[in-house]
Amino acid sequence: MLNFNRNRAQPRAGRALSLGGMDYLDSKRKSNFVGKIILAAVLTALCILIIKQSPSLSSPSPFSRHEPGVTHVLVTGGAGFIGSHAALRLLKDSHRITIVDNLSRGNLGAIKVLREQFPETGRLQFIYADLGDAKAVNKIFAENAFDAVMHFAAVAYVGESTLDPLRMDWTFRKYYHNITSNTLVVLEAMAAHDVKTLIYSSTCATYGEPEKMPITEETPQAPINPYGKAKKMAEDIILDFSRNSDMAVMILRYFNVIGSDPEGRLGEAPRTELREHGRISGACFDAALGVIPGLKVKGTDYKTADGTCIRDYIDVTDLVDAHVKALGKAKPGKVGIYNVGTGKGRSVREFVDACKKATGVEIKVEYLSRRPGDYAEVYSDPSKIRRELNWTAQHTDLKESLQTAWRWQNSHRNGYGSPLAMDS
Ligand SMILES: NC(=O)c1ccc[n+]([C@@H]2O[C@H](COP(=O)([O-])OP(=O)(O)OC[C@H]3O[C@@H](n4cnc5c(N)ncnc54)[C@H](O)[C@@H]3O)[C@@H](O)[C@H]2O)c1
Ligand SMILES: *[C@@H]1O[C@H](CO)[C@@H](O)[C@H](O)[C@H]1NC(C)=O
Ligand SMILES: *[C@@H]1O[C@H](CO)[C@@H](O)[C@H](O)[C@H]1NC(C)=O
Ligand SMILES: *[C@@H]1O[C@H](CO)[C@@H](O)[C@H](O)[C@H]1NC(C)=O
Repeated sequence: MLNFNRNRAQPRAGRALSLGGMDYLDSKRKSNFVGKIILAAVLTALCILIIKQSPSLSSPSPFSRHEPGVTHVLVTGGAGFIGSHAALRLLKDSHRITIVDNLSRGNLGAIKVLREQFPETGRLQFIYADLGDAKAVNKIFAENAFDAVMHFAAVAYVGESTLDPLRMDWTFRKYYHNITSNTLVVLEAMAAHDVKTLIYSSTCATYGEPEKMPITEETPQAPINPYGKAKKMAEDIILDFSRNSDMAVMILRYFNVIGSDPEGRLGEAPRTELREHGRISGACFDAALGVIPGLKVKGTDYKTADGTCIRDYIDVTDLVDAHVKALGKAKPGKVGIYNVGTGKGRSVREFVDACKKATGVEIKVEYLSRRPGDYAEVYSDPSKIRRELNWTAQHTDLKESLQTAWRWQNSHRNGYGSPLAMDS
């Protein structure tokens, strides 16, 4: 049976073409496509159109009805780093998945990998849509029977969010707009269409600079950057929404996420323009690849054992496992809030050493003075999630996590290729 997508939302930017359950952007983005891909897409879309016009051949989409024993999870931001890894695990666990992503930062190549792994009808559907578009989101909820939502989609770079203090007003607006209000759109659609379970991607950035370490879920939240503030506001909106309702909510506050799929199918492929305010592992791999001349460690005089900052690095495989456990334990009328970290702080110096070992490259390291706004130590107390969800981090060897991620980086020098292309 053909698995085309009957429920596609019309993206603002143009008409969507449908191919094997996957939607592409037409019109404006066309220039981004490799010629042969356009040709393939158009030909397939034509076939689908022809088939669609003969009613006897089209049957109701399996995505549009609840099926006993099958959990249909909406994964927002599923073309991104963490969302794609979560989708892979959920598919492996026999769930039915709909990914909604506007590809502003995700990659169609990741969707392609997921589809290759799970080509069967009714397993995976990709819908290109912007969560800021309430009408489109509502249509998606009207046409699909979701059992749960994992909400990953966000503009997720702390560095970028603190970039330009003179334009802070604009930065704040952008973050509130793209994180906080999009979450509200998702919540309203969930309420309108009676979808009760939400797993939300939050962050340790909502805690700001706590005086006491480790950070527990009781640590007061006082975010210091636009990203952390927007995420905290989204949490608050979720809490208010779920009050006096039978929603089942799990809020997971991640620490610093590293690693990638141990089988090398997926990786982290941020936009080139974001690399500079990207994350430490990205910088380490870029240095190993020679894309940047070396690493700059900012601050060697913090009050820590070796003078460099301490962070808590959580492997994406463990993080995804926490989502699966959260989904399994979500209870109507209850909110669970959990830190997802290893509980063990690692210094930047340790990280850099692990990176050198993982890549086998003698990366050049420059030690500079502190960067304003960095705090010395951040690490989690993960005992609540261990107690309540029976989750603990398993991949706690920095070098191994980095090695896994490095294998993918080194064999995918160009990431997934062009973000909107299917070639990798
Ligand atoms: N990576 C980390 O270290 C980390 C730490 C704490 C929390 N988080 C949270 O985890 C989530 C996922 O982060 P990630 O690292 O995978 O980021 P990412 O940028 O790789 O993925 C985000 C995805 O969301 C999509 N998206 C963004 N805005 C959208 C919109 N309006 N409509 C539809 N799709 C949209 C992007 O295209 C992208 O595919 C985020 O919510 C982030 O705040 C990440
Ligand atoms: C976020 O929203 C603002 C509008 O408030 C927009 O200008 C900006 O481009 C958006 N996208 C990102 C990636 O920040
Ligand atoms: C996609 O989402 C981002 C972040 O919310 C937003 O800035 C951007 O305008 C959206 N793009 C499209 C094409 O919908
Ligand atoms: C907790 O997890 C471990 C390891 O996955 C498992 O062996 C054990 O049975 C679990 N315990 C409970 C109470 O579910």
